[in-house]
Amino acid sequence: MRTTEVCEIGEVPPLGYVPKYMYAQLIRRERFGQPTAAFQVEKVETPSLKPDEVLVFVMAAGINYNNVWAALGQPLDVIQVHEREGDLSGFHIGGSDASGIVYAVGDEVTNVKVGDHVVVHCGWWDRDDPFIKAGGDPMLAPSARIWGYETNWGSFAQFTKVQGHQCLPKAPHLTWEEAAAPTLVGSTAYRMLRAWPPHVVEPGNVVLVWGGAGGLGSMATQIAREFGGIPVAVVSSDDKFEFCQRLGAKGCINRKKFDHWGMMPHWTDREGYGRWLEGVRAFGKAIWDAVGERKSPRIVFEHPGEDTIPTSIFVCDTGGMVVICAGTTGYNAVVDLRYLWMRQKRFQGSHFANDDQAAAFNQLVVDGKIDPCLSRVFAFDEIGLAHQLMSENKHPEGNMVALVSAPRPGLKGLP
Ligand SMILES: NC(=O)c1ccc[n+]([C@@H]2O[C@H](COP(=O)([O-])OP(=O)(O)OC[C@H]3O[C@@H](n4cnc5c(N)ncnc54)[C@H](OP(=O)(O)O)[C@@H]3O)[C@@H](O)[C@H]2O)c1
Repeated sequence: MRTTEVCEIGEVPPLGYVPKYMYAQLIRRERFGQPTAAFQVEKVETPSLKPDEVLVFVMAAGINYNNVWAALGQPLDVIQVHEREGDLSGFHIGGSDASGIVYAVGDEVTNVKVGDHVVVHCGWWDRDDPFIKAGGDPMLAPSARIWGYETNWGSFAQFTKVQGHQCLPKAPHLTWEEAAAPTLVGSTAYRMLRAWPPHVVEPGNVVLVWGGAGGLGSMATQIAREFGGIPVAVVSSDDKFEFCQRLGAKGCINRKKFDHWGMMPHWTDREGYGRWLEGVRAFGKAIWDAVGERKSPRIVFEHPGEDTIPTSIFVCDTGGMVVICAGTTGYNAVVDLRYLWMRQKRFQGSHFANDDQAAAFNQLVVDGKIDPCLSRVFAFDEIGLAHQLMSENKHPEGNMVALVSAPRPGLKGLP
């Protein structure tokens, strides 16, 4: 291939050759709003590297909910976040999942070399952060960010700029698009289910998984299964039951059969509260029916937030944990505290994963134990559409991916 200032989408430059410019799907502040309008392909300069950074030629990029938020400009104006960090480019290149090939490495990178096939995890932090240097979990460090959301230069571009430690080996048995699908949601689910002792999923533990057919939920179900747990999946239609059961759900619940969702009535409103209690008790019984015995969830895997938190706290077993990583339906968590303190339950926040947790999840993928649950594959110029479907909850089960430089689906290596 000729060397050039910019490659067309789907062209693969010679290994290690970095064109001056690249194509990227950009969000700009003046386009904040519906994802189909917010994302547009533009040509920008390919980023240069710091000593601990790696330039990855992106073959495929996973679609995640965080760039729905980026497109909307809510709850964070991500461009303002970049500006605060000194990045005055005025645009956001999102994308927090990638599979690709290492094309350049900074002087101090030792874990990967040019030519390696990698996936990228989205945990980004400052290696000189005093909290991390003192041995703290990087995800609790003041400098922790999500690459491709809170940082610029994500995977919706021909090249992405990442820190060396974010690179993990790509599972050789997966295609580029399969490999780009699970890392963000899977590593997040891994930390939620494995990193908060003593609430670590163990054989026989019931795990209630909200959004069982979604990105996080499809991974949580499989991780719970791998560690001997009994996953119960909640979904919004019976059509999704088979998908969840194939991943290991012992039973499934259709949430549309209940109507007690949202912030619960005040405890002084006897009538309203009584109706809520009826709904939530019926939901608890549906869990026992799904499990096949009167066994409540040791762990509730939460992310819808406002609509479901009162129920999650109620149905969680005595001494169990509700672990949450998002509030997709809203941020006000209203619970009846009596169930929390009398039954000594734990309500735990969790956010993405550190290097060890991401590597442990990736090993499950490399070992063929986790189905990446690739659903629909989009073209590079359809990245806005994929996010639009996600924002309207009209996307298919599992994880969506866009091809960036992989010229067609089905490839596991170079074309
Ligand atoms: N903090 C982190 O590290 C982290 C990491 C990953 C994702 N997240 C966040 O987690 C959330 C979910 O991400 P995802 O990738 O799993 O998205 P997803 O693939 O869209 O799955 C979410 C699922 O939630 C279910 N759902 C929607 N509305 C609901 C409601 N009112 N009540 C109960 N369930 C509802 C839907 O399933 P049904 O309609 O079938 O019920 C949907 O499949 C997003 O807000 C995302 O930003 C956070």
